[in-house]
Amino acid sequence: MKTLNEIRSTFLNYFEKQGHTVVPSSPLVPRNDPTLMFANSGMVQFKNCFTGVEKRDYVRATTAQKCVRAGGKHNDLDNVGYTARHHTFFEMLGNFSFGDYFKSEAIPFAWELVTKHFDISPERLYTTVYHTDDEAFELWKKIGVPESRIIRIATSDNFWQMGPTGPCGPCTEIFFDHGEKFWGGPPGSPEEDGDRFIEIWNVVFMQNEQFEDGSMRALDMQSIDTGMGIERVAALLQGTNDNYATDLMRSLIEASANATSSDPDGPGKTHHRVIADHLRSTSFLIADGVMPSNDGRGYVLRRILRRAARHAHLLGVQDPLMHRLVPELVRQMGEAYPELREAQPLIEETLKLEETRFRQTLDRGLKLLDEELTGLPEGAELPG
Ligand code: SER
Repeated sequence: MKTLNEIRSTFLNYFEKQGHTVVPSSPLVPRNDPTLMFANSGMVQFKNCFTGVEKRDYVRATTAQKCVRAGGKHNDLDNVGYTARHHTFFEMLGNFSFGDYFKSEAIPFAWELVTKHFDISPERLYTTVYHTDDEAFELWKKIGVPESRIIRIATSDNFWQMGPTGPCGPCTEIFFDHGEKFWGGPPGSPEEDGDRFIEIWNVVFMQNEQFEDGSMRALDMQSIDTGMGIERVAALLQGTNDNYATDLMRSLIEASANATSSDPDGPGKTHHRVIADHLRSTSFLIADGVMPSNDGRGYVLRRILRRAARHAHLLGVQDPLMHRLVPELVRQMGEAYPELREAQPLIEETLKLEETRFRQTLDRGLKLLDEELTGLPEGAELPG
């Protein structure tokens, strides 16, 4: 079985061999972009390289990027814990070309990595292209994907935009068929939102820039931006379609179960999943300098942490929990992201303090509610 840490290094090593510079993940707080709350994909740190405003000493790069989607255009917070694939924090693997190679190399790279290095059977793969993109369609055909499994999509699913403004372009995606035991249909079908056909890689052909007034211009150079959700690939390589059953997430779920003396798969299952996910986002945000507060990024952090604390409360836990799980997170991810290890004391202290305060508020609120309810005549309603 390939662990998540092995999948990350297989990806980065493959692209390094193809002449890409391995660039560290940028912080979750974008340094170059006031329009964006958090890094939400691998291309964020390269945004200005696509538009030509910034030049680096490489034209090919590969990264494992920390991402948070919990505010703004891409916001998954309310679904987390209840589904197999929503996260507030996830890692996106990517390869990038800044005016160097384009479609005719990006597509074979993706195919070779997926079918030869990850050993995924081509029979289980589908691809999508933007409906007008004949060139991408032909490239997939040439590589051996049967026409019946190259699907043209006319919606924004195959036209990627970082946000309301910025570089963007049509994209091609690779889907994995988890098999008949799951409900769902191929991309573009009415059943596409099922659990059977899962997108694993998005390859964006960066060729436009979008402006605030809705207009768009063609970029001077044609570039590549790709994003592969490591948790999804880990799931399929580990024979599951639930991201939370993969080695890394499972270790955090078990840490939560041990710390609360409860069954990881029992009635508190959803709570453990929420806690495992939120442990990652809150810890990484604190490591990158975000502190709980009442506005902006700090407020998003506070909301995530309070959501985790609420789920810990539902597990019947009396004392703050999250800070006790940080050592397991550092064990799992500290090597790939040394900033996590360095910030461990700060993360633990911040989580503990914030959770303690929230619990006091929660206890006070519950006590007040109790008092009001006790004094309420039978059959009466408590006014809103
Ligand atoms: N930017 C694209 C995405 O987020 C590819 O990296 O899917």
